[in-house]
Amino acid sequence: MRPLQSLGSLKLKLGIVIVAAVWITAGATIAAVRWLGLPSIVGAGAGVALALACVQLLARGTTRPLREMAAVATAMAGGEHGRQVAVSSNDEVGELARAFNRMTAELAETDRLRRELVANVSHELRTPLGALQAVLENVVDGVSEPDPETLRTMLAQTRRLGRLVSQLLDLSRLEAGEQPFDMRSFAPREILESAAREARLHAPEDVVFSIDATAALEAHGDPERIHQVVVNLVENAVRYSPRPGQVALRASSGADHSVVLEVEDEGPGIPREDLERVFERFYRGDGRRGADGGGAGLGLAIARWIVELHGGTIRAQRREPQGSQIVVTLPQSDA
Ligand SMILES: Nc1ncnc2c1ncn2[C@@H]1O[C@H](COP(=O)(O)OP(=O)(O)OP(=O)(O)O)[C@@H](O)[C@H]1O
Ligand SMILES: [Mg+2]
Repeated sequence: MRPLQSLGSLKLKLGIVIVAAVWITAGATIAAVRWLGLPSIVGAGAGVALALACVQLLARGTTRPLREMAAVATAMAGGEHGRQVAVSSNDEVGELARAFNRMTAELAETDRLRRELVANVSHELRTPLGALQAVLENVVDGVSEPDPETLRTMLAQTRRLGRLVSQLLDLSRLEAGEQPFDMRSFAPREILESAAREARLHAPEDVVFSIDATAALEAHGDPERIHQVVVNLVENAVRYSPRPGQVALRASSGADHSVVLEVEDEGPGIPREDLERVFERFYRGDGRRGADGGGAGLGLAIARWIVELHGGTIRAQRREPQGSQIVVTLPQSDA
């Protein structure tokens, strides 16, 4: 039984306990001396004992969350995450216990993400390293010759490793806010043109690029970073484009003083249930983890970080009858 549990203020609870203790002590002492005829020292002792028993009953459960929080905090310091404190009161101690529970839940989630990240990074690094090691061992053992074909395979794996490491560095710098953006006015058209020019160098010949951009449109942002976003989107579009196929890049002005960039392809499209998840780190919709044809699943995660730090949005949608479309919105330049 916790008589004061429903009260919302610790001060009020303490006030009631103190007043009750004083009244009980006085009342019990008087009763013991007057009616029972006990000596006053014995009567006072009995009054105090009765008051302490009542205080114990009234204040029951008030400090339990504090003791539990201390125990959970000690467990967390030892690396045990995810434990919660039982909350039964509505006063300030209950409020503190609820905030404490929110904090432990968030810390447990951060810890889970960190572990997942380390596992993913190790996995992604191990795959090309393993392939490289196998080829090198064959060459050293004389099983295969260091001919141009073997060297090309090794170079491809080394490139993959290098790309992965620079993507990871990029992500951690973006997350830590270490790379300040060089914000200025720029023409989205130029960004689309240079991204398409670069993509043409590597893309199969029967994938064609089309650019449609409003001429005088000016966006506000870091052109280098937005270029990186568009390059990532175009790279995906080319990878999934049918042969022959068309990759379309568009820039136009949108609602609320925004610039809208779109990259479209005619490939299979992103499955409806993956439209959100493709922006997660290491998420690869088609499950081609470690296969040579795909990357690590970081391109769209990096794109989302950059766009959101610009105060913009990025989303993926499906095209009818087929194909995918990534839509980026950025603030328009005021100049
Ligand atoms: N244009 C597209 N058409 C179909 N699926 C796509 C397209 N773009 C992205 N996806 C899906 O989203 C996933 C995540 O894309 P993301 O760019 O983040 O990673 P990735 O291209 O696999 O690797 P990385 O970009 O790190 O080299 C892809 O693996 C793919 O399944
Ligand atoms: Mg990609």
